[in-house]
Amino acid sequence: MNEVVGSAFSLGELFDTVDWICERCDARYLSILRSKKAKSTMPKKASKKKQVTPERLMELSFAYAPPLIISAGVTNKVFDSFEDGAKTSEQVAKETGASAHALRILMNALVGLDLLKKNRQGKYSLTPESAAFLLSNKPGTHAGFFGTIAPQLISRWLQLSDIVREGRPAVAVNQETEGTEFFSQLVENIIPMSYPPAQKLGDHLKLSKGRNEIRVLDLAAGSGIWGIALAERSPRVRVTAVDWAGMIPTTKRITQKFGVGDRFNYVEGDILDANFGSGYDIATLGHILHSEGEERSRKLLKKTFRALKPGGVIAIAEWLVNDERTEPAHSLMFAVQMLVNTERGDTFSFNEIKSWLAEAGFKKVRKLEAPGPSPLILATKP
Ligand SMILES: C[S@@+](CC[C@H](N)C(=O)[O-])C[C@H]1O[C@@H](n2cnc3c(N)ncnc32)[C@H](O)[C@@H]1O
Repeated sequence: MNEVVGSAFSLGELFDTVDWICERCDARYLSILRSKKAKSTMPKKASKKKQVTPERLMELSFAYAPPLIISAGVTNKVFDSFEDGAKTSEQVAKETGASAHALRILMNALVGLDLLKKNRQGKYSLTPESAAFLLSNKPGTHAGFFGTIAPQLISRWLQLSDIVREGRPAVAVNQETEGTEFFSQLVENIIPMSYPPAQKLGDHLKLSKGRNEIRVLDLAAGSGIWGIALAERSPRVRVTAVDWAGMIPTTKRITQKFGVGDRFNYVEGDILDANFGSGYDIATLGHILHSEGEERSRKLLKKTFRALKPGGVIAIAEWLVNDERTEPAHSLMFAVQMLVNTERGDTFSFNEIKSWLAEAGFKKVRKLEAPGPSPLILATKP
């Protein structure tokens, strides 16, 4: 399991893949997702003055289509139906019960997105990318995200104009009732995003070399994947996972699935109220500050500082923006995700979080390059 999920590609790689797709096929609307790096490497016309055209806006107007097309493919078992070989749209219709006419159109669009191939006989098959990441039964699959989570999130984004006018989110997943319902579905589906950086953290901290017990505090644990990856690195790791009471059965189920459940204990409650205990070597905060917002995040960092032992390390995974909040685009858009789904959420810069860590008493605030939307932030309790 470890190996396959570990190979799930990072967001950086996702953007490279999108660049690759954009360069090879006529999926022009995907170019809005292109990384700035890729844009800057495109050949520039030296002498011609750039004329403003509405082309980019026209591309943007269609940007909603790819995730919904992928979602319809996942939900109608299109990708799964190719696991045993190439098929026509009629054969897929027979197997899945979906409309043959609609499948033909959907599957052609998936060919346009380079997520299916079509041969001269009109038979469709998987590409390496869809075979690796869109089959529902594969470890590290993104099928759950596209099938369940993406449509749910997109339906909330349809309220964005009202949300901006009224300053109120569509839902408040930072509150326990709504949050438990949402995160129970989400956390397993974001394991492919969190597992590779958590493994990187375990390697960086050289956990396999230690001789003493290593106590890990996994805050806002969700799937427990940060604690799981560290526990997999050393049998001496013991994890305390903290999350809302309604989430803990999910955390227990997943830690057991990974075979490390017996090295976990669980603390139920809101992160600002729960009793963490003390004397931890490592504390992980995987994707929690952005839904909490600044005020609660600063309190959480101070509380985490108290729970660590001297020499203990805090590790934070976030969607970082630059100091000017002008890039990267995915983290700026993720802030809108927080606007739609939380009361005070936002995305923050490394220097903002660094100043909160310093305020809490941490030293040696640093970045650790890792797969995922941004580098990890590490700091040490002196
Ligand atoms: C985005 S998920 C991250 C899960 C995991 N740490 C990861 O990085 O994949 C956020 C988790 O924080 C939990 N959470 C959010 N707000 C919380 C709060 N105020 N108190 C306790 N848990 C909270 C949610 O239930 C969910 O499990």
